Amino acid sequence: MTSDLNREFWDERVPIHTASDFYDVEGFKAGRERLQSFELEDLGDVSGRSLVHLQCHFGLDTLSLARHGARVTGLDFSAPAIEAARKLAAEIGVEADFVCADVYEAPEALGGRSFDIVYVNIGAVNWLPDIRRWAQVVGALLSPGGILYMKEVHPFSWVFGDKDLTVEHDYFAHGSEYEEAGTYTDPDAETVHNRTEEWQHPLGDVLNAVIGAGLTIELLGEHDHQAFPQWAFMVRDGSVYRMPEGIPRLPLMYTLRARKPSP
Ligand SMILES: C[S@@+](CC[C@H](N)C(=O)[O-])C[C@H]1O[C@@H](n2cnc3c(N)ncnc32)[C@H](O)[C@@H]1O
Repeated sequence: MTSDLNREFWDERVPIHTASDFYDVEGFKAGRERLQSFELEDLGDVSGRSLVHLQCHFGLDTLSLARHGARVTGLDFSAPAIEAARKLAAEIGVEADFVCADVYEAPEALGGRSFDIVYVNIGAVNWLPDIRRWAQVVGALLSPGGILYMKEVHPFSWVFGDKDLTVEHDYFAHGSEYEEAGTYTDPDAETVHNRTEEWQHPLGDVLNAVIGAGLTIELLGEHDHQAFPQWAFMVRDGSVYRMPEGIPRLPLMYTLRARKPSP
């Protein structure tokens, strides 16, 4: 089910991202925390826990979780991303396993291993056409009693245009093709692979897919800030972006924790 368009798009953006101020790899190497305090609280103590990070990009968040003591595996379908993640792990001397595979092939690619935690973050499920199949994959990867923790862009925030808060998109629309040069770390970057296929998953569809995979939802959080400047007028606040004063707050991210029942 791999989309070649999407893989080429991501492969090309890896070197731009690893060199960007947005990801600040040098700061990360020096010990900068990537995870937000609410995430660490929601996850609880990860020390000694086995964790797989699906769609890990070049591994910054995966390696942050390893710094908190988790035994981590990162999976992504972009070979340059996995190569960069392995290099970064070696440079900072953190043990981590990185596997190049499509998320839908994860159970086989990971040799049938199961994990205490499946971790998914920002900008992941919009690249996947079938949310129910994704949830089944998550369920297959979890050990009994294990948790899915995800932090994602709130699908409601996608109804607005790129420039302002005019409602332009149908919340319930499914797949769309886009063409956009550059990337969120550098909108002016010169890129040639600019076409993508993306899929919108309303919150209800995600929750029902997770419930359908047999998991029990323990926590659903909605957040008024974003991990990237979703609109140019957003104001940076530490490592996140908020609406400027005078603009009503909107749900921009959601967090979800769901557990696979123990027999
Ligand atoms: C927005 S990035 C995730 C970024 C991450 N949250 C971060 O800030 O570093 C999305 C990632 O999903 C990966 N991806 C997209 N479709 C995939 C698929 N079908 N299987 C595996 N990885 C996929 C891309 O290669 C990319 O690294």
